[in-house]
Amino acid sequence: MGTAEVGSERMPNHVAIIMDGNGRWAEERGLERNAGHRAGLDTVREVVRAAGDLGLKYLTLYAFSSENWERPKGEVTELMYLLEHYLEEELDEALEQGVRIRAVGQLDKLPPTTRKAVDHAMDVTGGNTERHLILALSYGARAEIVDAARSLIRSVEAGVVDPARLDEKTFASHMYAPDVPDPDLMIRTGNEYRVSNFLLWQIAYSELYTASVMWPDFHRADLEAAIEDYAGRERRFGLTGAQARLNGKPSDDGVSSG
Ligand code: IPE
Ligand code: IPE
Ligand code: MG
Repeated sequence: MGTAEVGSERMPNHVAIIMDGNGRWAEERGLERNAGHRAGLDTVREVVRAAGDLGLKYLTLYAFSSENWERPKGEVTELMYLLEHYLEEELDEALEQGVRIRAVGQLDKLPPTTRKAVDHAMDVTGGNTERHLILALSYGARAEIVDAARSLIRSVEAGVVDPARLDEKTFASHMYAPDVPDPDLMIRTGNEYRVSNFLLWQIAYSELYTASVMWPDFHRADLEAAIEDYAGRERRFGLTGAQARLNGKPSDDGVSSG
């Protein structure tokens, strides 16, 4: 949580979004669900641009969950296709704007062409440092924690980590993107109030914001409203309000994970 600060009137450093409601958006219009995913992709473009304009450093988008593999085959295929298409299409702009694209999740489960598009985008933008667009793909937070545990056990077996000295910071260093700071703000669209296996470790002290609109109806102004709401909150990290206001930085020696 390296960049967390108590107080308000600031831009979040990292916003994570659960982009939910594509299917219902389409169903409400008598369209097939995939039409909702296509409309949702337009929102992704708009929100990524808006985030750039606002100077947001880290944006994580929950694009496809571990559980989403169980959806009808035609829907999974469309989502993979849209993802490939998006990555190919946005690459030039990402390069131009200094955006590093990366993915977190069990990428080995992606179809080969999707995997290729993801790897290519990560390779080509890997040197960018200005802004970070993190796509959670084939992502499940419990799987991430189990994968981290597996990696940690290997480090123990290799004699690199002493179990007696294991702490949160070391544990977090085995997550998928350990250098990414924890989200300051987590937004969920689609009028649902749940976390759906997203970033369970990293959202320990994130501020939560839900939007009742379906993802295809979420626009720049909605992102700005969420950030404005965030800016008016007081983060306490377990301290009293008075302590938090005095301290400014309660946990800057804490874990950085993401
Ligand atoms: C998009 O919304 C999220 C993805 C899994 C891509 P949904 O497809 O979950 O839409 P709803 O929740 O069924 O409306
Ligand atoms: C969460 O949405 C996953 C993504 C946004 C990719 P879901 O629609 O899969 O979550 P549930 O099923 O409503 O919890
Ligand atoms: Mg949903």
